[in-house]
Amino acid sequence: MLLGLVLLMCAPACGPAREVLLLTAQPSRPKEGSSMTLICETQATSQKTDAQLEFCFFKDGRALGQGWSSSPKLLLPTVWREDSGSYWCEEKTTALRATRSPRIQIQVQDNDASVVPGRGCGLPPEGIPVWNVSLEVQPPGGQVQKGKKLVLICLATQGTGDITFSWYKGTLGLNLETKTQSSLAAKFEILAVTDSDTEKYYCTADNGYGPSISELVSVTVRSPVSRPVLTVGEPGAQVFPGDVVELRCEAQSGSAPILYRFYHEDVTLGSSSAPSGGGASFNLSLTAEHSGNYSCEADNGLGPQHSEAVPLTVTGRADLGVIPHPRHLLSQNQPSCTAAHVQTSPLSAYGGQEGTSHLGNP
Ligand SMILES: *[C@@H]1O[C@H](CO)[C@@H](O)[C@H](O)[C@H]1NC(C)=O
Ligand SMILES: *[C@@H]1O[C@H](CO)[C@@H](O)[C@H](O)[C@H]1NC(C)=O
Ligand SMILES: *[C@@H]1O[C@H](CO)[C@@H](O)[C@H](O)[C@H]1NC(C)=O
Repeated sequence: MLLGLVLLMCAPACGPAREVLLLTAQPSRPKEGSSMTLICETQATSQKTDAQLEFCFFKDGRALGQGWSSSPKLLLPTVWREDSGSYWCEEKTTALRATRSPRIQIQVQDNDASVVPGRGCGLPPEGIPVWNVSLEVQPPGGQVQKGKKLVLICLATQGTGDITFSWYKGTLGLNLETKTQSSLAAKFEILAVTDSDTEKYYCTADNGYGPSISELVSVTVRSPVSRPVLTVGEPGAQVFPGDVVELRCEAQSGSAPILYRFYHEDVTLGSSSAPSGGGASFNLSLTAEHSGNYSCEADNGLGPQHSEAVPLTVTGRADLGVIPHPRHLLSQNQPSCTAAHVQTSPLSAYGGQEGTSHLGNP
């Protein structure tokens, strides 16, 4: 589709627009299931012009194929009996003066399917062509939660008469919807998005002068995190002051990035983010005060989820110093987190605090 719009090909038959235009079909009596090429030819007698010509083919009043194109030929890969009818072509220069060929009757000799209906390229009405077409996405930013509604609004700044809007998915342009309205904006909705709706989208608008295309707009479908599971060190292993335990929190599902926060009772130990999903861990140097319940929270902006509490008992060994070895000091992505051993009440944690904003509270 994109390709078709930028196709620049001027066939030998290009001539001044005022000449007589003739449509021919090859073969003129095609067989069902075979291909047919329509050729829009100017019987030019005067010199060639540099003007860029555009052509459009019609069958029984409906435009065929992609609408206006710089190619004076249109290949219909397979024709069927239903494709029999009255055909004509139109030619226009950039000056928007259009010429129409006389109609020709094509009878397809002797199945089902019909010619692809075109996206409007009627003889241009007196008016203003559509311009500055843009695609607006709701929710803004194109981040939409799985199962929620996505609205794609196709807007033109100006353009008179009925405007045919089309929405496309992916750079290859899967046509999602086409509708004609006498307004400068039209909307297309996907009521409940799924993962496969994460794509780039664009739209076109055409009021008879050929389609104008919008920019590509990215849409990302995001899903909320599931309830995370916290593991604290080796389950069941005895731990002593001075040991380092790894707290690991992981939500099985949820779109990245996910921010994890670790809690001891109601106190935040620190946070760690998983930029591309998965879990995150946090190392904690234990003191005797670190017994108690631990929990974690996963948050990707679509509603935080809290894990179940996991109890930890630090077996007291009064004879051992509780000042951890520097290598036990936590450094998650930020090796410079080397605060001195400060005894905070009721616990002392060495958290790899990332500069991440706090997304929620327990
Ligand atoms: C083109 O359309 C966009 C979106 O509607 C609008 O913000 C912008 O002002 C328009 N540009 C011009 C030149 O009108
Ligand atoms: C925690 O410690 C373990 C083993 O000592 C190490 O493999 C892991 O990378 C550390 N994790 C963090 C977040 O520093
Ligand atoms: C940890 O949680 C359990 C169950 O929620 C509770 O019975 C227990 O008292 C808690 N322990 C501490 C030290 O708060």
